[in-house]
Amino acid sequence: MNILIVYYSLTNVTKNVVEIFKENLSKKHSVSLFELKTEPEFKNNNIKKDFKIVGLPDIKGFDIVLVGGPVWAFGADFPILKFLESVENVKGKEFILFVTMAFPFKWMGGSRALSMMEKILKEKDGKVLQKFCINRMFKNVEKEAKKISENIISLIKT
Ligand SMILES: Cc1cc2nc3c(=O)[nH]c(=O)nc-3n(C[C@H](O)[C@H](O)[C@H](O)COP(=O)(O)O)c2cc1C
Repeated sequence: MNILIVYYSLTNVTKNVVEIFKENLSKKHSVSLFELKTEPEFKNNNIKKDFKIVGLPDIKGFDIVLVGGPVWAFGADFPILKFLESVENVKGKEFILFVTMAFPFKWMGGSRALSMMEKILKEKDGKVLQKFCINRMFKNVEKEAKKISENIISLIKT
């Protein structure tokens, strides 16, 4: 399968997860990464609602698109939302969504973030195969990411 992973990461947590996904998924599939960047670039305490995404990936040639980013304020982060709203060729495409979050429970933003992301894709007739939440508190992110990679591999077995 031809897999694209589109992600946003402010403090590199999601980026590390994506690198673990790539390492594991590449054993069976062809994996490309696209990191979303904003203009202006956000800093930890300087997040604005007025921004642009610098360049959008073309998802057309990929069989599966993974999309992920951090949870912000009990929802999805703004760059991921803007990407999902802007991306074309979503109809019929299969997606797997994931988020990383600081708090220990999904209900502290993770579930809502994933639902917000899924809603946008469903409105564009995209198919969401699965959603994953990685909560960092009390958990080993690398181990979680590896486990999810295995899960994804079994999910997209042809
Ligand atoms: C503006 C902002 C809001 C956040 N809101 C939440 C939240 O509601 N729930 C949560 O669990 N973590 C929250 N976090 C923590 C991040 O989701 C978490 O640290 C994530 O793993 C960071 O991923 P990144 O390094 O890829 O940006 C927030 C972080 C930022 C910067």
